[in-house]
Amino acid sequence: MKPRVLGISGSLRNGSHTRVLVEIALEWAERCGASTELIDLREYPLPIFEAHRQYHADATVQTVIGKIKAADCYIVGTPEYHGCMSGALKNLFDFVYTEISGKLFGVVAATGGSQGVSSLDNLRACLLYCHAWVLPYNVAASQRDFNEQGQLVNEQVLDRLARLGRDVAVYGPLLVNQFRSDLQLPADAPQSFAGWVQ
Ligand SMILES: Cc1cc2nc3c(=O)[nH]c(=O)nc-3n(C[C@H](O)[C@H](O)[C@H](O)COP(=O)(O)O)c2cc1C
Repeated sequence: MKPRVLGISGSLRNGSHTRVLVEIALEWAERCGASTELIDLREYPLPIFEAHRQYHADATVQTVIGKIKAADCYIVGTPEYHGCMSGALKNLFDFVYTEISGKLFGVVAATGGSQGVSSLDNLRACLLYCHAWVLPYNVAASQRDFNEQGQLVNEQVLDRLARLGRDVAVYGPLLVNQFRSDLQLPADAPQSFAGWVQ
């Protein structure tokens, strides 16, 4: 079965550069054998997470959780907002930390002018606290890497996105398959990483 790579675009802006970055990386994941789908958070307006609430009856929340759960690995993009990931993206992770644990992420950022290090460190820290894995490099693009039509024109960024899409498609299934088989260890086996996060 093909690995299922889910793209997540964390910008709600019309004409988002983040979405373009995620789409290009997803295209490469698909060319490297994965099946792909994109969640644009603009199309799934989640409520602000309240820890005391249950969301079983919220159709948007349940749809998003279902898609996140079904995926083997992820390519997630954030706009850089004051050196952090977007609020919309952070809010998503508050809903789905259980569903992403033990799975691999490739991370990308769109910025105004910075290198994206701060927002990607922020995103990376959040994912690690959710017990997800993250590829050991980032991809970022600033406004000057796009033309007026909103197309990404920086060849180096295009190359890095291709590598990221490929790496998620190749390494994502290895991690998630191992994670799932860890869950089938005998009950009296030493506690595995997978058992610990469940
Ligand atoms: C609220 C806000 C905060 C921002 N903070 C930063 C920042 O800290 N560093 C930066 O380089 N650009 C910053 N920008 C610019 C955005 O990162 C840039 O417009 C990027 O293209 C947004 O991604 P999008 O096109 O996917 O919406 C900020 C923009 C907004 C609206």
